[in-house]
Amino acid sequence: MQLFIDSAEVSELRKAAETNLINGCTTNPSLAAKAGKDYNDVLKEICSIIKGPVSAETISLDADGMVKEGVAFSKIAKNIVVKVPMTVEGMKACQRLTKKGVKVNVTLCFSANQALLAAKSGAFFVSPFVGRLDDIGKIGIDVVREIKQVYDNYKFKTQILVASVRNTIHVLDAAKIGADIATMPYSVFEQLFKHTLTDVGIKRFLEDWEKVPKKR
Ligand code: G3P
Repeated sequence: MQLFIDSAEVSELRKAAETNLINGCTTNPSLAAKAGKDYNDVLKEICSIIKGPVSAETISLDADGMVKEGVAFSKIAKNIVVKVPMTVEGMKACQRLTKKGVKVNVTLCFSANQALLAAKSGAFFVSPFVGRLDDIGKIGIDVVREIKQVYDNYKFKTQILVASVRNTIHVLDAAKIGADIATMPYSVFEQLFKHTLTDVGIKRFLEDWEKVPKKR
């Protein structure tokens, strides 16, 4: 399973990359606003830190605009993947960008039917937003299970990139279902390392080490 960081904060991405456990990065306009720097500059910097796919989100609402933005993003670095929204225009853009050899991440996906359309449009990634479904009282991860079933049935190559991950349970559930990728905030990635019993165990070993007779 691949782990991506959902962030445009260069300092976080550097720390994450140092673990050698991160396979890619996703960004969006909200994360770019938080980073507070020119989006293209940030993307360039991220692509020099993260060697795997880096998703850059288009903001146009029509296919022509998305294709134009996507082609421009794809020139920033080889590992750029262009995010388009799950709309009719988005699917037209997905098909056109894919034909040009530009990889596409279909974002804002909230149902398996939407994911089916994304796969049929040649998407490289589809991003079901589990946290935002939870927010409205649905079980977000159920949509991931359905997408996995549909994609397995028809052997679609589109990778399932579980997004809007808010906690470690989302990551575990995504892994149990067999999703290809989970993208998460850096804070959630840090949590994956942690267990109280690990901390207690280290403390006890260090205390006992003090009791081991030493020559000097
Ligand atoms: O990159 C999109 C995504 O992961 C959004 O997450 O927490 O804003 O729903 P969130």
